[in-house]
Amino acid sequence: MIKAAITGTGLYTPPQSISNDELVACYNAYVEKKNAERAEAIAAGSAEALQPSSSEFIVKASGIKARYVVDKSGVLDVDIMRPRIATRGNDEPSLLAEMGVSAARQALERAGRTAADIDFVIAACSNMPRPYPALAVEIQNLLGIQGYAYDMNVACASAAFGIQAAVDAVRLGNARAALVVNPEVCSGHLNWRNRDCHFIFGDAATAVVVEPLDGAVSQDKFEVLGTRLQTQFSSNIRNNFGFLNECEITPRPWDDVLFRQEGRKVFKEVVPMVSDLLGAHLASLGIEPADVRRFFLHQANLNMNELIARKVLGRDPSVEEAPVILDEYANTSSAGSVIAFHKHHADLAPGDVAVLCAFGAGYSAGSVVMKRV
Ligand code: COA
Repeated sequence: MIKAAITGTGLYTPPQSISNDELVACYNAYVEKKNAERAEAIAAGSAEALQPSSSEFIVKASGIKARYVVDKSGVLDVDIMRPRIATRGNDEPSLLAEMGVSAARQALERAGRTAADIDFVIAACSNMPRPYPALAVEIQNLLGIQGYAYDMNVACASAAFGIQAAVDAVRLGNARAALVVNPEVCSGHLNWRNRDCHFIFGDAATAVVVEPLDGAVSQDKFEVLGTRLQTQFSSNIRNNFGFLNECEITPRPWDDVLFRQEGRKVFKEVVPMVSDLLGAHLASLGIEPADVRRFFLHQANLNMNELIARKVLGRDPSVEEAPVILDEYANTSSAGSVIAFHKHHADLAPGDVAVLCAFGAGYSAGSVVMKRV
């Protein structure tokens, strides 16, 4: 069997960032406006007053301090509260494709590869710009890659699922090299008017090159020792946006086609699912958790990541062992664990073992165990 390696990663970060204070100021202006509009009903007890958000709560509950977005002005306009994105024609690249291409070019450069070396592209992310043609085929075309491409949506766990598909293709000789791209405009499916979750998402794109270890020219390579995936159905993180929305006899409320979650339940149910998966995966490879130098965990909630790492290690993780990027990026869905890897792997030495672990809606979870070469 051919040994597969991750030989390059790339990251696209949108230029605009929103701090918690800026976000909360907008949300609270919305609350004041709505409460004023419904003052009579609130006074009569037939409507409930909306409660303000707070930066202190956000940091304490999630660890998030800021998020990058593709359009700050729309999100922070109290009359809009969503990104405003220019409509593009069919002959123009989609926004997600452009972001993905930017991350992909960096990953290729870092791997010392060009488009001519790749023959498999996967767009693995939470939301596609349209059902078809596939985003991955669009990215393939923009990069000038031959071969094949397809989309894969396993929500926040998409990166791990995409890497497994790429590793399998390389190991079996079905692809000389593969590119996994994770473009996310989470700001487009977040309900910025929902106090429970208005702070949790941000936008970014990542990319990963997977190729045979033998012959890889990158100085920065990680042999993939194993991958493991798991899914378990739950509606606790759900988005009902879909192609049948317009056909449904009873129209859905506007906020039913955006992201929603039961955050507490997700926290409680996903932590054991992920820590069990990681423990079992490492055991199957004969690796002690204590021998893992770094965990690149999905970046949704700091408390959740600390708890997962604590369950796996049997003690609190250090910041070096479980690096954090969600303070700056918030939850960027499929891109989060790859951003952590991209930004925090340079100091790992040959022989160091690291784990990339992504998890989210579905529920879905995946781990990629790798060794620096
Ligand atoms: N500002 C101030 N207070 C807020 C608030 C806000 N923006 N949002 C909620 N609150 C209040 C609630 O009303 C509640 O008040 P109460 O105790 O008086 O009823 C209290 O804060 C706790 O709310 P809760 O929703 O239970 O908070 P939490 O500690 O569970 O944190 C999340 C919320 C979303 C940060 C957290 O549940 C989470 O991250 N879960 C995991 C989600 C996840 O990983 N999802 C994956 C997505 S891919």
